[in-house]
Formats: sequence, C-alpha cells, structure tokens
Amino acid sequence: MLGESKLKLRFRPIDIHSQVEILLVAKRMRETLKEVLGNDRGESMYSLDWLQDRVQFHLDPERSEGQVLVAETLINGELDNVGHTILRFETDESNTRFGLFSTFYVVPEFRKQKVASNFLTLGEQWMMEKHAVYGATDTAKGNEKLIRLLSKSGYHKSFENLEMIRLKKVF
Ligand SMILES: CC(C)(COP(=O)(O)OP(=O)(O)OC[C@H]1O[C@@H](n2cnc3c(N)ncnc32)[C@H](O)[C@@H]1OP(=O)(O)O)[C@@H](O)C(=O)NCCC(=O)NCCS
Repeated sequence: MLGESKLKLRFRPIDIHSQVEILLVAKRMRETLKEVLGNDRGESMYSLDWLQDRVQFHLDPERSEGQVLVAETLINGELDNVGHTILRFETDESNTRFGLFSTFYVVPEFRKQKVASNFLTLGEQWMMEKHAVYGATDTAKGNEKLIRLLSKSGYHKSFENLEMIRLKKVF
C-alpha cells in the first residue's frame, strides 16, 4: 500500500517513446550528481548524451531488466513530473539476483512529502514480483536524506568504502 502524502500523486512508468521525458530524467540525474557530489564534479562526470543513454539502457530489455518510474502531480491545472526513480536487476558475487535502486530524485519544492517513500514501496513491489531476493541501493556516505529514508524502511548497511555505502533489505 502507498504511504500518505499531502500531495495528490500519480505514479507511472516513464513513456519509453517520449524523448522529452527521457531528457528530463537525464537532466535530473545530473542535478542529483551535483547535489550529492558537488557542482563541479557532478556537472563534469557524464555528458548529457551518456545520461540519456543510461535512461534508455534501463528501458531496453536487450540491455537490462530495468524500470523507470515517474511521479506526477497537478501544478496549475496540469500534470507535471516531480520526480523519478530508476531500478534494475543485478546479480551479486554469490550469483543472487537482486533489485537495485539506481537513483531517486524529487524536485526540491516537492520534497519531504513522501514522494521518494512511495517510489521505494512501488520499486520493492516490482522487485518482489520478479522474485528479487533483496533490494539494495548505493549512495555517497554523506547522503543523510537517502540513508534515513532507506533505514526507516528496514535497509541496513551491507558494504562501505571510503566514499560509498550500500544499503540492503532482504525481502
Ligand atoms: C533523497 C530524496 C530522494 C528524498 O525524497 P523525498 O520525497 O523528500 O523523501 P520522503 O518525503 O519520502 O522522506 C522520507 C524520509 O526520508 C528522510 N528524509 C527525507 N528528506 C530528508 C531531509 N531533508 N533531512 C533528513 N531526513 C530526510 C526522513 O526520514 C523522511 O521521513 P519523515 O518525513 O517522516 O521525516 C530527495 O531529497 C532528493 O531528491 N535528493 C537529491 C537527490 C538524491 O540524493 N538522490 C539519491 C541519490 S542515489
């Protein structure tokens, strides 16, 4: 069941035929990198073409078993995209299939209203339907917002190095 939000939200898979929507998600992937790693590093890390291809990668069954979900709400009478999450299946070193939340992003004005919490619930449902043994995400160690969000939903640290942490929840 989806969590309560003050916003009236609609969640759906991205329109795989919409270049506009794919470009928007790619741009917001760059915003995420800038926010988490700092403006200079985040801006220069990947070209916009690479980021668009990364979105496409998750939508092409020949390249990955993935999904991109977007959230919409009514703004001035029109449905507008206020965030996304990108998910895919991976296999770990013991050959276990797991679901990876590759990223989450919520437009700043719409944060702290459970948009990402609902992405987490929907993503886990998608992973469980496809028999993932566990769900995981990797993020920068300093990304307190995301770490808190996942910890609240039962994720625990399963790995860390100098910069990154992996959080994991067995289904
Ligand atoms: C991280 C992010 C996706 C959270 O989205 P959100 O929709 O605001 O999250 P929610 O409203 O569902 O928050 C759920 C819980 O997460 C934690 N959390 C979210 N934002 C927080 C903040 N600014 N400070 C502390 N905890 C926070 C809280 O525990 C919160 O529960 P609460 O509201 O009951 O306190 C959003 O802040 C974002 O887009 N950040 C930039 C991009 C990013 O870091 N993405 C992840 C990279 S992998």
